Amino acid sequence: MRITGTGHASIFIETQTSGSILCDPWVNPAYFASWFPFPDNSQLDWEALGQCDYLYVSHLHRDHFDAVNLARNIRKDTVVLFPDFPTSSMEDELRDLGFANLRRLPNEEVVELDGGAKVMIQAMTAPTDGPLGDSSIWVEDVDGVRLLNQNDSRPHELSAFAKLGHVHAHLLQFSGAIWYPMVYDLPANAKTAFGKQKRERQLDRSLRYIEDLKASWVFPIAGPPCFLDDDLWHLNDIFGDEGNIFPDQQVFVDFMAEQGYDNGIVLLPGTECDVATDDIVVEQPIDDVPAFFTTENKRRYLEAFRERQQVVLATERASWSHPEIDVLDALKKKVEPIMEQADQMSHGIGGPVLFELTADSPEAGEDPPVVEEIVFDFTTSTVRRPEPSDKPRYRFRTQRRLMEHLIHTGEEDWVNSLFLSARFQAKRVGQYNEFVYTFFKTLSDERVNYVEGWYAEQQPDAEDIELDGWVLQRRCPHLKADLTRFGHIEDGILQCMLHGWKFDLETGKCLTSAGHEIRASKVADSTT
Ligand code: FES
Repeated sequence: MRITGTGHASIFIETQTSGSILCDPWVNPAYFASWFPFPDNSQLDWEALGQCDYLYVSHLHRDHFDAVNLARNIRKDTVVLFPDFPTSSMEDELRDLGFANLRRLPNEEVVELDGGAKVMIQAMTAPTDGPLGDSSIWVEDVDGVRLLNQNDSRPHELSAFAKLGHVHAHLLQFSGAIWYPMVYDLPANAKTAFGKQKRERQLDRSLRYIEDLKASWVFPIAGPPCFLDDDLWHLNDIFGDEGNIFPDQQVFVDFMAEQGYDNGIVLLPGTECDVATDDIVVEQPIDDVPAFFTTENKRRYLEAFRERQQVVLATERASWSHPEIDVLDALKKKVEPIMEQADQMSHGIGGPVLFELTADSPEAGEDPPVVEEIVFDFTTSTVRRPEPSDKPRYRFRTQRRLMEHLIHTGEEDWVNSLFLSARFQAKRVGQYNEFVYTFFKTLSDERVNYVEGWYAEQQPDAEDIELDGWVLQRRCPHLKADLTRFGHIEDGILQCMLHGWKFDLETGKCLTSAGHEIRASKVADSTT
């Protein structure tokens, strides 16, 4: 098996008899042009890579799912392997890009490809997993060489892969991919202390996975990105800040060595590794990999990269403003119906969340003025102006034009767009509240219903409802739509209006798809 690094979490796998698999090909900047691949991978021959036999996309994070690169360079008749996620967002986006040969792999099931190589995808589907879903892919070549590309997915343990035999190449994330603690309004020393803890936890978590799997060779991938916009330049790990959460590949390989693991390999864009069951031959595209990552060399490299990207950054910035949008009115229309369906998340948030929208970036050193304030009131499911009595649990401050762009593009997931851009500041009262961040990634009927249903199922007594003379489970067996809202019964047939699935209530049978039985009984029956 040959593995070629193609940048960040992207790799090109060549099997002996089943052709090639291109994974997560990210090239173009993501999250409001905050993140760029590091090192730059735009010089690779993406047209040639796009002739792959298989494409694997692990999830919808934009540093894995690069719609521009997929549209421009990847052949549309390639077979797309993708995880069995509960919502249809990824499949919809792939179809919109023109991919027709889609293969959703059943969760944790080994599948044989033409030519004999085997693959398995593990899908993570909790509300906290990425943009409502993350995944890993396992590949076994015909000569028995096995690879696990875990990228940034975080299963509780790796036994589903370990039981399939010794893994030779383990690729996993080790660096930060979050906005914490940098965006929080904290004293500088507290921010450094929290950042340091976070940096250590990340390295430690990755080491635990490595200890669990005991692969022959380990490749730190899927990070860090680099930040080329002046507003975010300070986030690059080139200032000797021990609270920086974005350590690079060489830092992690050195950390592994300190812990007694000498099997770490830096995978640069263009690194080629021929992997056998008992040997590996690595060819790096540069002579001295550790020298590339010294602080001084990295700083010079990033400065040159920043220079090359000025036009890209200016074009991106110019696309954000849509001043004609009435932000409050648009948010009322979009978000209030979602809040009404978000019982458990609203309860968990339990109060108002304030967004302060500012003018565009001012001159360096000045704070941009707040031009508009909007409150998401989770006690009344309303979006409104602030009132003097409001005591917000969370306060987010961001540029109005970023909010305009979220509205303009109909973004359903602000967490994996606005928040991951780190182009905001946050302040909170009390503990971190998972529900706040989960809510802002569920801004569609499908998403909010899936997450509400997921939380409901964590409770010991799943809830029943009464509808048109029937007692039935509240959540649709398909993707957990709330049937008090989406259920419609006619002649003993329930139709869930979210995707149109039908169920025969007398037998409980799903009439649209195999499995998916529904729990139901007539009102009179259930009282007896
Ligand atoms: S949630 Fe899809 S049909 Fe009900």
